[in-house]
This record gives sequence, structure tokens and C-alpha cells, in this order.
Amino acid sequence: MATETAVETTLINAAGPRPGDIIVTDNLWKTYEMGDQEVHALRGVNLRIRHNEYVAIMGPSGSGKSTLMNLIGCLDSPSQGKYWLNGHDVSELNDDELARIRNKEIGFVFQTFNLLARATALHNVELPLIYNGTPAAERTQRAKATLESVNLGTRMMHKPNELSGGQRQRVAIARALVNNPSIILADEPTGNLDSKTGDEIMALFDDLHSKGNTIVLVTHEPDIAEYAHRIVTIRDGVIASDHPSTRNRNQ
Ligand SMILES: Nc1ncnc2c1ncn2[C@@H]1O[C@H](COP(=O)(O)OP(=O)(O)O)[C@@H](O)[C@H]1O
Ligand SMILES: [Mg+2]
Repeated sequence: MATETAVETTLINAAGPRPGDIIVTDNLWKTYEMGDQEVHALRGVNLRIRHNEYVAIMGPSGSGKSTLMNLIGCLDSPSQGKYWLNGHDVSELNDDELARIRNKEIGFVFQTFNLLARATALHNVELPLIYNGTPAAERTQRAKATLESVNLGTRMMHKPNELSGGQRQRVAIARALVNNPSIILADEPTGNLDSKTGDEIMALFDDLHSKGNTIVLVTHEPDIAEYAHRIVTIRDGVIASDHPSTRNRNQ
């Protein structure tokens, strides 16, 4: 019995996090039940991402990119397999601990911005700080500073419908950043933007990466994926390739 436990521990450690890892998945499966049908969105994903990596997850529509992003972001739990976020085995955390680690570690950016339509840019960016109980004065000061850092200092009192697409996405990025997360997860962040505005948003991600953030970017556009330093391609719920981007190889 003692020997079995020892062997098991060795196996778990082999697949688990090593120093410098921030995201580690081992044989991650996600199966959705649709009536009497099962959809295997992920079929055994093994992914290891280190602190301050900049990774693009590519793949055709329906390949499982958003499902993987939601698992990495602790917005959903796997049907099978293990996930360690910054050294924590996520399956062992209770709901409160999960919410805390998610708020602390992760900033989300979505294709459709997901801003509150009736709230000003400032209020949208303050929201995560309201949820975690930051005092009002500090909240406003931090939200303002974060909006200034994405060059929206002059647009703070505007509502989303008074802003351009690129400005809305910058508000969403400020909201993702206001808690100083270590990881930015972005799911098709340029999907609703023209290519020039998309490039501006990608320049902002470059900047965040150079400041030490880990960035995981989901995209189906090869040009956008090239901004990252590593490109992981996913097909039918499994990793089909994993290699440095051209940009990285040329550096
Ligand atoms: N909530 C859900 N319920 C049922 N099936 C889903 C759900 N979310 C995604 N799927 C299915 O899982 C597969 C992967 O979807 P998704 O992760 O959204 O792919 P991608 O982001 O690469 O387009 C698709 O076949 C999709 O239809
Ligand atoms: Mg998707």
C-alpha cells in the first residue's frame, strides 16, 4: 500500500507544475451533454505555460479554444484531468478559494467586450474592485490610473455606446487589469475590430507582456497569433502542434 502511494505521487508530480510554471494541465477533458448526445470539446489536453510566456491558442471554429480558455480561467471545471494554476491544484479548491484565486490571478478579455452598457467607462473598470470590497476612494483612483494606462484618460465618463470598438476593448482591458492579475486571458479580443484597431490592441498586449504578465490569447487569425511568442494549435479538442511563432524565431 505504501509503495503504491509513493508511485502515484511520483506520477502526479511528473505531470504537475515545476518551478516557473503558471498554467499546467494534465489530460484535460471536457464533455458537454446535449440531450442524449455527448460532445467531447476537449479530449486530453496537456499544456504547460510558464510565467511571462505569451501564448496564442489557434484552431478552427469549434476546435475547443473557448472551452480550454474557460477551464484555464476557472470559469468552468473539467470532466476529467487535472489543472494547476500557479501551483494550486484547482480541483482541491472550494468555490470561495476558486473565486479568490481567479480574481487575484486572472484578467479576462472577450471578443464582445462584455461591458455594462449603462455604466461609464470608469464604473465598468471599478466593478471588479467593488466585488472584492476595495474602499471607494482607492477604487476610483485605481480605476482612473488603469484607464489612463490604456490611453483612455479623457474618456472615463463615456458610456460604451459613446466609444469606438477599439476604445471599448481598451475599457475591457483596463477592467481586466485593475486587480493587477498575473495572467491575461483573451478570447478573440480583436474579433470585432477592424485590422488597424486590432493592431493597436495587440500593441497593448505586447506592452503588458513586456511588463511581466503571462498572456494567453485565443484567436483563429494567423496574423494575430503571430504577435505571441508561442503558438499552440488545437484541433478537435487535442493539441495538434506547439511551436515558437515566426516573430519569436526571428528575434
Ligand atoms: N455549453 C456548451 N454546450 C454544448 N456544447 C458546447 C458548449 N460549448 C461548446 N460546445 C461545443 O464544444 C465544441 C468546442 O467549442 P468551443 O470551445 O466554443 O470552440 P471554439 O472556441 O474553438 O470555436 C464545439 O463542438 C461546440 O459546439
Ligand atoms: Mg471560441
